[in-house]
Amino acid sequence: MIKVQDSSKKFFFEKTLGLARKGWGDTHPNPMVGAVIVEEGKSVAEGYHRKSGGPHAEVEAFKNLGRKPAPGASIFISLEPCSTTGHTPPCVDAIIESGIKIVYVGTLDPNPVHAGRGLAILRKAGVTVEMASDDFGKQASRLNFIFNLNITKKRPLLALKLAESSNGKLSEVAGKTSRVTEAEARLDVMHWRRLFPAICVGSGTVLADNPSLTSRQTQGTFCPVRLVLDSTLRTLHETVSPRNLYRDAFTSKTRILTTVTGMDNLKAVKKAQEYGISLVEMGQQENGQIQLSEIPDFLKKLNLNALYCEGGSRVAKSLLKEGLVDYLFRYESPKIFSGLNALPGPDLGSFPLREPIEAQLGEDRIIHGFL
Ligand SMILES: NC(=O)c1ccc[n+]([C@@H]2O[C@H](COP(=O)([O-])OP(=O)(O)OC[C@H]3O[C@@H](n4cnc5c(N)ncnc54)[C@H](OP(=O)(O)O)[C@@H]3O)[C@@H](O)[C@H]2O)c1
Ligand SMILES: [Zn+2]
Repeated sequence: MIKVQDSSKKFFFEKTLGLARKGWGDTHPNPMVGAVIVEEGKSVAEGYHRKSGGPHAEVEAFKNLGRKPAPGASIFISLEPCSTTGHTPPCVDAIIESGIKIVYVGTLDPNPVHAGRGLAILRKAGVTVEMASDDFGKQASRLNFIFNLNITKKRPLLALKLAESSNGKLSEVAGKTSRVTEAEARLDVMHWRRLFPAICVGSGTVLADNPSLTSRQTQGTFCPVRLVLDSTLRTLHETVSPRNLYRDAFTSKTRILTTVTGMDNLKAVKKAQEYGISLVEMGQQENGQIQLSEIPDFLKKLNLNALYCEGGSRVAKSLLKEGLVDYLFRYESPKIFSGLNALPGPDLGSFPLREPIEAQLGEDRIIHGFL
């Protein structure tokens, strides 16, 4: 058995994360995973999990190697190898069959029933298993924050994204669109939109901003399932010009969540049919608005394991008040919107973040973490 030198381990572990990230947004409901086969201190084959149902990272790496690993070879994997049969046979079997005698693992399986099981099977078969440093383990685990919550809480993850001025406003003039953050922060939003399988906004935002809610990046445009919260179907009113998400190339991805009041609005229902937009009747609260607590079950039924909610102010306040937000993305701009008509956001100061990650994005900052 030839152990990889300590100085190279960090490099190979980081390589597994880079590979894992290639599956960004494509692996749901599975995690992103990367694997590197190392012989004599050099990477000889790599693999990552591309999409659910497809080969796992380890199997991809073996396939790319195209031969049996040389004696003394090792494998680095960002996540503990699976030990149960899903769409594909367990990866621990593939590793044992390959003859590899040392496995470096980034982080454990988040499922408490499986955590450590794959490693125990490997050890029993005479394979040495070494875990990454705690620091790397945390990074590797955080990459799959959606998957981890799905597994441990058995429900979809709900994230809220807000962009605030330095004095806590979401818009320079309430009900009007305004540029809160600049290019780098906007690009960052595109990156997160690409990760989430579904996105949502309130009717107020659809009317004010006319957003498309797509992820537009140099590598192409991606459209998540787009949900609009519109209790009365006012976004389909005859005086409202057709909104972008009702008439662009991705209309089949748009669904309007409404209430019995909306379904009784026959003119609007007809408009939705004309546009080819599906309407979904949700429960109605006493104040006439949509019962937001039904959203997780609704997502589950559509096999959507995470939702990126982009506000606006009212929807954000309701979601926070009902304790439905698992993860918060908070963009902070240095701009000050001091006008009387500026739109205040929710008081995010009373929602401290766990395991926050902060970054500077041009003139703006982002802080994101768990609620
Ligand atoms: N800076 C940012 O991060 C950001 C993000 C998005 C938007 N904005 C800005 O925010 C403004 C729009 O915000 P907004 O507060 O007016 O509208 P909003 O939050 O986008 O939508 C609110 C509407 O959603 C509908 N809704 C249905 N069920 C609801 C529930 N349970 N709780 C809350 N709302 C529910 C309600 O209308 P019905 O009763 O008609 O259904 C409600 O009036 C615009 O100026 C926009 O530019 C800023
Ligand atoms: Zn596997």
